[in-house]
Amino acid sequence: MERNLILAFESSCDETSVSVVENGSKILSNIVATQIKSHQRFGGVVPEVASRHHIEQITDCIDLAMSKAGVGYSDLNAVAVTYGPGLVGALLIGVTAAKTVAYAHHLPLIPVNHMAGHIYAARYVKPIEFPSLALLVSGGHTELVYLAAPGKFEIIGETRDDAAGEAYDKIGRVLGINYPAGKEVDRLAHLGKDTFNFPRAMDDSESFDFSFSGLKSAFINTVHHADQIGETLNREDLAASFQAAVVDVLADKTVRALDAYPQVKQLILAGGVAANQGLRERLTAELQAFDSVEFVKAPLKLCGDNAAMIGAEAYVEYQQQHFGKLDLNADPSLEFDFMA
Ligand code: KG4
Ligand code: ZN
Repeated sequence: MERNLILAFESSCDETSVSVVENGSKILSNIVATQIKSHQRFGGVVPEVASRHHIEQITDCIDLAMSKAGVGYSDLNAVAVTYGPGLVGALLIGVTAAKTVAYAHHLPLIPVNHMAGHIYAARYVKPIEFPSLALLVSGGHTELVYLAAPGKFEIIGETRDDAAGEAYDKIGRVLGINYPAGKEVDRLAHLGKDTFNFPRAMDDSESFDFSFSGLKSAFINTVHHADQIGETLNREDLAASFQAAVVDVLADKTVRALDAYPQVKQLILAGGVAANQGLRERLTAELQAFDSVEFVKAPLKLCGDNAAMIGAEAYVEYQQQHFGKLDLNADPSLEFDFMA
C-alpha cells in the first residue's frame, strides 16, 4: 500500500494538538498541549484565553509533531484540520495554521468535523465496519450517530439540553472538584453507592434523545438543601448516584438503538466521557446480549481532544477527495448534515 501521510490539526476547545498520521491508522506523532490549568480557576474554558494559548502553542506543536514523526513537509500528502464545531476563536487558529502549511507546501487541505474525528479515534483499535453505531459523549455533545458508510454520519438521537460531560463538570463544581470534573467524579462513584435515586430523564421515551439538565438540577438542589439544614452528604454516594443515572440513560438508549438498527456491526464509544469506567463496564455487560455487535472503545488516551483522531477521519475524506479551499472558515456550529 502506498504510504499516505497527513498532518492534522485540532484546536476546537482547550487543547492545541498537531499529529502526523500514516494511512489513517498509525500515529507517528500526536502532540497535545493542554490549557486546562489556565481555565481551572474560572471553572470552565474561557474562549478568549483559549485562543491566545493556541496562538502561543501552535508553531511549537507543528515542529514537535513533524520532528517526532521523523518526516519532512515533502513527505506529506495532505493537511487536515478541525473546522467545527467548537469555539470560533479557537478553531480559527488551527484553520489558519493548516491553511498556511497547505498553501506553503502545495498540499491539499481536508476540513474535518470534530465529532467525526472523535468517532474515528476508534480506528486506532480496529477498522470501522459499516453500518455501525457510535455513542458520542463529550463536554459539548451527547449523540447517537448511525454510520451507514465511510464518511456518512446521521444523528439518530442527541441531548436536548446539557451534554453528559457538561453535567459532570457542573455537578463536580458543587462537590468542589476542579474543571474538568468527569474523571474525579468517576473515581468517587466507584467508592460509593446509588442511594439518592436521581431522575433518569426520558428513559422510557421511544426517542433516542437525551436530557441531563433535570438530573443536574436535582443533584444541585439536593446538595444545597443539605447545606441549608447543616447536613453533610456522602460525596462518594452522591457521585455514584449521579453516575448511575447518567450511565442508565446512556446505556438504555444505546441498547434501544441497537435493537432498532439490527444490521449494525459495531458499537463505537467515543468522546471525552467515553473514558468513564462506569460507562465502559455497563456497555460491555449490555453488549453480551448482542452476539453480532462488536464493542469498539476509543483508546483511553484518545478519548479527549487530539489531532490523531482528526488525521484518522481525514484519511477517509482524502480517499473520497473531499478537499477544502483556502477560503475555508471556522464553523462553530457545524453539523453532520453538511458532510452527507
Ligand atoms: O471530548 P472532550 O475532551 O471535549 C469536548 O469535545 O467536549 O470531553 C471533555 C469532557 C469533560 O466534560 C470531562 O469532564 C469529561 O469529558 N470526562 C469524563 C471523564 N473523563 C473526561 N466524564 C466522565 N468520566 C470520565 N472518566
Ligand atoms: Zn471533543
